[in-house]
Amino acid sequence: MPVITCIEDLKRLHKKRTPRMFYDYAESGSWTGQTFRENTEDFQQIRLRQRVAVDMSDRTLASEMIGQPVTMPVALAPVGLTGMQCADGEIKAARAAERFGVPFTLSTMSICSIEDVAEHTTKPFWFQLYTMRDEDYVRRLIQRAKDAKCSALVITLDLQILGQRHKDLKNGLSAPPKLTPSTIANLATKWAWGIEMLGTKRRQFGNIVGHVTNVSDTAELGAWTAEQFDPRLDWKKVEQIKELWGGPVILKGILDVEDAKMAAKVGADAIVVSNHGGRQLDGALSSIRMLDPILQAVGDQVEVHLDSGIRSGQDVLKAVAMGAKGTFIGRAFVYGLGAMGEEGVMKALEVIQKEMDVSMALCGKRDIKDVDRDILLIPEGFSGSWQA
Ligand SMILES: Cc1cc2nc3c(=O)[nH]c(=O)nc-3n(C[C@H](O)[C@H](O)[C@H](O)COP(=O)(O)O)c2cc1C
Repeated sequence: MPVITCIEDLKRLHKKRTPRMFYDYAESGSWTGQTFRENTEDFQQIRLRQRVAVDMSDRTLASEMIGQPVTMPVALAPVGLTGMQCADGEIKAARAAERFGVPFTLSTMSICSIEDVAEHTTKPFWFQLYTMRDEDYVRRLIQRAKDAKCSALVITLDLQILGQRHKDLKNGLSAPPKLTPSTIANLATKWAWGIEMLGTKRRQFGNIVGHVTNVSDTAELGAWTAEQFDPRLDWKKVEQIKELWGGPVILKGILDVEDAKMAAKVGADAIVVSNHGGRQLDGALSSIRMLDPILQAVGDQVEVHLDSGIRSGQDVLKAVAMGAKGTFIGRAFVYGLGAMGEEGVMKALEVIQKEMDVSMALCGKRDIKDVDRDILLIPEGFSGSWQA
């Protein structure tokens, strides 16, 4: 067992163990990858304020997200094709989240279905919805999430159409992988992944296959998205979905103050300041840069969460200190899953927890709920010198 000390270690193992097509799918940003890179780089620009001679005993990271208790303010983000990074990946990630005491969010584009995950976990998870042209299918999907006792609906607003990720086109991304000479050559070096994958029946989009008719090819993610996702999604539809769901709603993919105000107006329980991990609008600002203006505008009306670029507990600490009530991690847990399955996701969460706990203490704080801007050193103009 290799010694894992940071998320980067898990990423290296993930790359080694998982077919190139799926590793690249996780690791890419759209087009030039500028926003993808800046999401992580901008976290580095914010510094932490070292304090000394403060009692650092009895610390806690326990908090709440949308009123639900969490061991630390970190949820697992919805990630499509998680079950291709590792066999039964969504079930394994959900179980790790449950063991750890943080929320798991199941993507519409998951390999394991809502029912699969519900059957293999004991606590409610969150369900992420992409809106489709087929309104009847969306209604049934929401009902399935209700039947599975999902405790929040995460509506993703920043992917009505797909931002291009070059590598997915070059690799011919599909689930299950299409067998071409180049994928066969690559799969031959990933035998542990292949053996596990042969041992499961879950190799297609579990929420879709068998639940929709007239769909040409669900294996081709890009083609399917273009054909089925609803490009007409607007605030009226968001309100209708919220009504249909009737429970807690989190609106994900907010990166602009005006959109944040609309989200607050429609009565979202929380918003996620997010640019989809730099996978959609290349050239958009990083989430951490947009957090402050959004908090100033709606922080007193709606709970504000953040994702995109979190790779450490220090990153979570910075987002929370700035005012986010919670955070989501995408790639950080996917690296763990691809590296070592359920235990790898546990490891990713443990790494982040330890980094956050020790860093919080070294900033002179003992309770994450008492952490505020006082622990941050933010460069002048970090968020504010952009002209619309
Ligand atoms: C491989 C991959 C697949 C994703 N699939 C979805 C998805 O199905 N639904 C969704 O709302 N967001 C999806 N996202 C975005 C994540 O939920 C989250 O916003 C993003 O990963 C955060 O950035 P980070 O990876 O830097 O933590 C995906 C992200 C990745 C990396």
